[in-house]
Amino acid sequence: MRRSIIDIRDLSPSEIMELIGTSEDIIANPAKYAHKCEGKKLGTLFFEPSTRTRMSFEAAMYELGGHVITMAGAGSSSAAKGESVADTAKTVSCYTDIIAMRHPKEGAAFVAAKNASVPVINAGDGGHSHPTQTLADLLTIYREKGHFDNLTVGLCGDLKFGRTVHSLIEAMSRYTGVKFVLISPEELKVPGYVKKEVLQEKGIPYEQTTDLETVLPTLDILYMTRIQKERFFNEEDYLRLKDSYVLTPEKLVNAKEDLVIMHPLPRVNEISVKVDEDKRACYFKQVLNGKYMRMALILKLLKEAGTI
Ligand code: CP
Repeated sequence: MRRSIIDIRDLSPSEIMELIGTSEDIIANPAKYAHKCEGKKLGTLFFEPSTRTRMSFEAAMYELGGHVITMAGAGSSSAAKGESVADTAKTVSCYTDIIAMRHPKEGAAFVAAKNASVPVINAGDGGHSHPTQTLADLLTIYREKGHFDNLTVGLCGDLKFGRTVHSLIEAMSRYTGVKFVLISPEELKVPGYVKKEVLQEKGIPYEQTTDLETVLPTLDILYMTRIQKERFFNEEDYLRLKDSYVLTPEKLVNAKEDLVIMHPLPRVNEISVKVDEDKRACYFKQVLNGKYMRMALILKLLKEAGTI
């Protein structure tokens, strides 16, 4: 059965545990996986800039013994001549076994999946969703904490446009005893639909605040995010909000000893580079975990499609 992953809800909690198990096995026994995708091709379609997601998808396919065909950007493809996402997906399906796509428009990955004849993985669609970043985040939380239940998760920065934030709230709200602390400027609060359809619908406790330092000692996870210049309609608002939060070693003095500090990256200046030396800083572990989870996901979708 051909199956695409557009949203983290496309994977059940038991499937996420299965992907975590596969990732752990890949980490322990990489040679066992080195030929699993021999002769198979991943197409990477990135209509928006990316370093980690694109390169980790490509590294994942190479480490599985497969090949990669890439379209570097909208300007170098027939999208620049006006070709639709639907036609692009139909075309790229003729050359590849699986597609990873990033696009600035919400819903573009859904349209691609409807029209492709191979599995499509959403590598980020506008401010909507970024499910494979969430898989990287979940593997990181699991490896650091050993479980997902009873955690207080602080999300800080651009919670309005931050697709990684929306996907992580969706994912973590499925575990028992999880609480959210939503830390943002007034203008960048979590959208109403996420609060209504996820948090309120499921009765998940959450608080909203603009003050990071007051809530920091209560957190088990601190997920920092960048104020995203590319999502603002005017530069004045961006300049006013861009330095709302800067995490420094001084601010972490009263934080828990086993706090897990995360960030999907790229960072601008919301985490001081001095924090990188703190043993609680896990954001570069997240980067590596993303490659293992993408390997596990490619394997799962190609197996389900009967391709391998
Ligand atoms: N976290 C993330 O999506 O990074 P890139 O934009 O570099 O892919």
